[in-house]
Amino acid sequence: MLAGASLLPAACATRQAISYASNPFTMGVASGDPDANSVVLWTRLSPDPMAPDFGMPQSAVFVQWEVAEDDRFNRIVRSGEEEAHAGSAFSIHAEVGGLKPGRTYWYRFTSGNAVSPVGRTRTTPARDADVQGFRYVFSACQQYNLGYYGAWRHAVAENPDFVVFLGDYIYERAPRADRDNVRLTVNEDALDLASYRRRYASYKMDEDLKAAHAAAPWLVIWDDHEVANNYGGDFNQQGLSTADFLLRRAAAYQAWYEHMPVRKSSAPVGPNTRIYRSFHWGRAGAVQLIDGRQYRTLTEWPEFGADRNQIPDSDLRRDPKRTMLGLEQEAWLFDQLKRSNAKWNILAQQFAIVERQVPGKKPGQWMYGNDAWDGYPATRERVLQALSGTSNPSVIGGDSHIFMAADLRIKREGALVAPAFVGGSIASPANDVEGLSIAMKHNPDMHFGENKVRGYTLVEAGPKQMTLTMRSMVNARDVKTEQKTLAQFVIEDGKPGATRI
Ligand SMILES: [Fe+2]
Repeated sequence: MLAGASLLPAACATRQAISYASNPFTMGVASGDPDANSVVLWTRLSPDPMAPDFGMPQSAVFVQWEVAEDDRFNRIVRSGEEEAHAGSAFSIHAEVGGLKPGRTYWYRFTSGNAVSPVGRTRTTPARDADVQGFRYVFSACQQYNLGYYGAWRHAVAENPDFVVFLGDYIYERAPRADRDNVRLTVNEDALDLASYRRRYASYKMDEDLKAAHAAAPWLVIWDDHEVANNYGGDFNQQGLSTADFLLRRAAAYQAWYEHMPVRKSSAPVGPNTRIYRSFHWGRAGAVQLIDGRQYRTLTEWPEFGADRNQIPDSDLRRDPKRTMLGLEQEAWLFDQLKRSNAKWNILAQQFAIVERQVPGKKPGQWMYGNDAWDGYPATRERVLQALSGTSNPSVIGGDSHIFMAADLRIKREGALVAPAFVGGSIASPANDVEGLSIAMKHNPDMHFGENKVRGYTLVEAGPKQMTLTMRSMVNARDVKTEQKTLAQFVIEDGKPGATRI
């Protein structure tokens, strides 16, 4: 009856008299954003996630957490308590400090008579530790109705130190009846806080996804579908007024925060939430996690209309004042990159960052996607300039539902700065299967591309090289899918770019 959870006799309940008739840990447990001494532990109490009250009382509920050095909790090293409120959907973000660097820990929550499943997490090595390397997996885009999450099951079997998720955790629209659905969420568009919460609940009750969260700490950023398709800044394509869109964005950000293992500093204030941040693995690695959605300027194109996704080149497109990241985030990012002493510098962002020009209708005309970096080439140049000053830079992305390896240059004919990878999508199919080969034909820096399969990428960083292994699912529409290795790339220490092996 209670998958992965157990109920204690009511007499054992501490402090709070709440007694659950069924498992409140329906969405499992998660951890995230570790540093050398601390980590965030997440859960959400919700015996009945689709009910307006989630099956919870109106009053606040106390939740105890424990962190142990062993999975049987014989050596509990930290414990504490958080209050869960209806206002944040009874979600918990416990920031646990006082941990040792570079260690594996196990954690669990207790509320009244209910005990959560056990999660495993890991602290990073100390900032100045001279560690040999690290391993992580990354992916993005998990449209629930169009595929199962077998990729997560295989990804956690790789035993990564951490997981990086690059956005499109949910898709906000109701599953369309004319799509090839393998399963359904509630038949509604997510538009307000209650419906975004229901959308997260549908996704987060998936067993493979819960297991992936319980296996390792995650570093999560968002893309557009956590809010609305192709939004940028305060601009939307759904026809809402700016004021109404910002209300929707505030609801979406709040629901995202309630369901992600992120620090309390990422709690939204109205329609604003800072999620850009740095992550360090001793002196071996630094990951800059950035937000390519919230701070965009000039998303609207007066001459083309608001929802134009493919645009020709123009002075406006190249305007240096046009920013995808916002000048404050840009300044923060450039400062982080400048100060980084990591051997491997990873920029974790939402998109296929490489320039992708395709022929337009007029002779000699090139068209560019307005929804990502090609709509903001000046920002990309500034970012690549900053990356070029770091040790062994690489860029990882999601969004486009493909596997891709590419070379990045500040100017199209310039020197190679860094390799870029799109690490696959967990479940979302490619929107335009034929479009990839056309793009590759006209953009030789896109030297590997595959968009018919789903999956993730494993990254193994060592003292002399970093290896990226793309794993694809044999059939993402089969919950029990096997996987295979799609392609492997290696980056040699001190040499820009990646070579397929
Ligand atoms: Fe996506």
